[in-house]
Amino acid sequence: MCGIVGYIGPRQASPILLDNLKKLEYRGYDSAGIAVLGNGSIEVRKTEGRLAKLEAQLNGEAPAGCVGIGHTRWATHGRPSDVNAHPHSDCKGQLAVVHNGIIENYLVLREWLEARGHVFKSETDTEVLPHLIEEYYDGDLAGAVRQALSRARGSFAIAVISRRDPDKVVAARKDSPLIIGLGKGENFLASDIPAVMAATREIFVMEDGEVAVLTSDSVTVQDLEGRAVQKEVVHVKWDPVMAEKGGYDHFMLKEIHEQPRAIRDTLTGRIDRDAKAVTLHEVPTTAADLANIDKVFIVACGTAYHAGLVGKRLIERLMRVPVEVDVASEFRYRDPMVSPRTLTIVVSQSGETADTLAALREAKKRGSRVVAITNVVGSSVAREADDVLYTWAGPEIAVASTKAYITQLVALALVAVGLGRRRGTIDLEEEQEIVRQMEKLPMYAEEILLGQDSVVRDLAQELHRAEQMFFIGRGLDYAVSMEGSLKLKEISYINAQSYPAGELKHGTLALVVKGVPVIALATQGDVYEKMLSNIKEVKARDATVVALALDGDDEIRKSVDHVIYIPRTSPYLAPVLAVIPLQLFAYYAAVARGCDVDKPRNLAKSVTVE
Ligand code: AGP
Repeated sequence: MCGIVGYIGPRQASPILLDNLKKLEYRGYDSAGIAVLGNGSIEVRKTEGRLAKLEAQLNGEAPAGCVGIGHTRWATHGRPSDVNAHPHSDCKGQLAVVHNGIIENYLVLREWLEARGHVFKSETDTEVLPHLIEEYYDGDLAGAVRQALSRARGSFAIAVISRRDPDKVVAARKDSPLIIGLGKGENFLASDIPAVMAATREIFVMEDGEVAVLTSDSVTVQDLEGRAVQKEVVHVKWDPVMAEKGGYDHFMLKEIHEQPRAIRDTLTGRIDRDAKAVTLHEVPTTAADLANIDKVFIVACGTAYHAGLVGKRLIERLMRVPVEVDVASEFRYRDPMVSPRTLTIVVSQSGETADTLAALREAKKRGSRVVAITNVVGSSVAREADDVLYTWAGPEIAVASTKAYITQLVALALVAVGLGRRRGTIDLEEEQEIVRQMEKLPMYAEEILLGQDSVVRDLAQELHRAEQMFFIGRGLDYAVSMEGSLKLKEISYINAQSYPAGELKHGTLALVVKGVPVIALATQGDVYEKMLSNIKEVKARDATVVALALDGDDEIRKSVDHVIYIPRTSPYLAPVLAVIPLQLFAYYAAVARGCDVDKPRNLAKSVTVE
């Protein structure tokens, strides 16, 4: 997730671009850059690192000109570096482009362009765009942009300037946000509303497949075929702080609602949509390597550890190899049974958690191949692992991890299916069915966010005064219940505990008395009857029971006080959906209790000390 901005008007562009980028740094801060068109040429200034570093480098000598674009990057393809920073240019420096999104077929396009003599400088997917536009340019910049985008697959919000078309900025979007700020004698574009609010509250909200042409005194919008599109002017009522959170009260809620896009981006480029197969180029482990693997270790902390618990069950079932999951702070002090025949998977949103990094080094020291699943390109964990599978969740600002967790589950499912296929432990038919379900996850997640939000909010209103709460489940539901209890604990301070449902009668049931809330997850068909019995056990003690069940399950309604439903999907993928209502429940309970949702007491976003 990156931030793009653009400006065209009577004023010097550089200070406007820099100020507007500042309001988008929450979208990414690995590198920053601007391109300004003045005196018939384009000057590009960009650097690895935060916007402040770029400003220091400009040191008051920013490029002169009244047309420009800018970018603050959250690295996806290509580590954070000066050369990978945006804007990117064509061969002759006549064009500059900034991009937010992922061009899924960039390798094929790059090969085609290099064969036609184009010279690339960066490792990014984005750089194919200026070269494609250069290839198609015949005097009509918007037309060249439309043709270039018709070749690109994936997601994009882009802005383009050209020294051969000095009086316009062209912008377009598909699956990445883009708004146009309508000024008086000047116009703006940005990934998000906060960037333009200082100058205007009148905007166009761009839709997928739309292309905008901005001049100082006009904005015209067309579709990818060049047909005119009439846009409605929207007046923004938010205050600036609200705007940075996209209109949500907290970053956590915004990030919960970003999950459909995060899932979609994490799947991008890793499944063959025609063959319904997992590709997983980033983990080149061969069938011969896998035949030699006799054990998998998954090591992580906190929420990432909970993702590992889900990963264990997926990998054991689909790769048929024993999996041990350990919290990183324990792993390296227990002389772990790791050998060159062990495959170690470390999971870390930040990629900087000290315990997880230390565990990675311990596993490597013992000869294990290490795969990292992380959300930060170029993080310490990413640099030191043998293979890296990035979760394209975008920056996660709230301390409580949500979209990172859900994309970790998607990444672990891709590993289980992809490596299971290579190991020969699942057949093509099973792989295709799971991939079909994977492709529906963004839609199902959207359905839950739209359909269950008010149900969950009302439940949180009813139950938020509880001082203790239990989350129970069996199998994969138990793993998810652990994440649900951590979410509630860490932001509402309610003493929430998670237990295997079959374990309650061995002691914990003594704590279940009248009115104690119990959240019971019942999405796993193979243990459903047993789960129903456990629910009846707690109901018999007058607990207040909330079931989380699959659409169409009317049976469970007879035994509980409330039911939250999620769409039916593969049992392996149900955790991806089951966690969303639990995240919302924790959020609304914390808000009802007046807690600081985004910055809970005693916690930090990334624990870089042991
Ligand atoms: C998650 O809600 C917590 N904030 C915390 O448990 C976090 O998951 C843990 O610190 C691990 O962080 P990492 O994924 O960046 O390594």
